[in-house]
Amino acid sequence: MKIGIVGGTGDIGEGIAMRLAPLYDIIVGSRDEVRAKESCTCSIAALKNRGTSCRSFTGATNQDAICCADIVILAVPFRNVITTLETLSCFEDKIVISPVNPMEKRDHFMFVPPEDGSAALMIRRLLPKEARICSAFNTIAANKWKALNEELSYSVPVCGDDEEAKRMVMGIVNSVSKLQGFDAGPLAASSMVEALTPLLLNIARYNKMRDVGIQFM
Ligand SMILES: NC(=O)c1ccc[n+]([C@@H]2O[C@H](COP(=O)([O-])OP(=O)(O)OC[C@H]3O[C@@H](n4cnc5c(N)ncnc54)[C@H](OP(=O)(O)O)[C@@H]3O)[C@@H](O)[C@H]2O)c1
Repeated sequence: MKIGIVGGTGDIGEGIAMRLAPLYDIIVGSRDEVRAKESCTCSIAALKNRGTSCRSFTGATNQDAICCADIVILAVPFRNVITTLETLSCFEDKIVISPVNPMEKRDHFMFVPPEDGSAALMIRRLLPKEARICSAFNTIAANKWKALNEELSYSVPVCGDDEEAKRMVMGIVNSVSKLQGFDAGPLAASSMVEALTPLLLNIARYNKMRDVGIQFM
């Protein structure tokens, strides 16, 4: 299975790429192909240092990352989602995963959704109707993805309207470290998942904690 990561050079994109690379073919996407290739070189070296071998792990433009992939992860900041998607195509037959959290830091972190109700529903509106959108990976901090010597023992809520796509995304979630995917309902329920991240950041801030995550028991 080929997984393309739009914005794969970023904090969460690089971490997700390294965690998935031993199991899936990864195409790290960027607006700048050179940056994507540099990111891959660093990630492959980090994995090699740990004695971890990976499958195909390549850098490309965001557009090529989408075209080559079966599954696309949109790892760009919420404020850049609209302009990014306006420049990209080829989503028709893809499963698209949104880890995007629309939030702002004011006095405290706040969930600030678009008019659609959530980033995932906005992405649904912007992409062709054949693309199957799921939200996942919204609540795991980038630092944790990149801490390759640590297990990822988190619950991962997954929302989506296409049951087959949601099952496939939960399969990917469950294949990484100790992550456990949970069906969190239709895409319309994504706002509740996206709103968890500002909550987690506030808990970290006001309790002097770092990289707070969630586990459903
Ligand atoms: N960071 C976390 O801990 C975390 C946790 C859970 C979910 N998330 C979500 O994951 C998404 C990515 O977060 P992140 O922290 O990884 O973001 P980031 O590092 O700030 O940016 C990710 C990538 O987006 C691309 N980008 C930056 N500005 C852009 C622009 N103006 N237009 C198009 N692309 C642009 C860049 O790639 P190129 O310059 O190579 O194109 C960058 O490497 C966000 O929606 C966030 O809510 C983040």
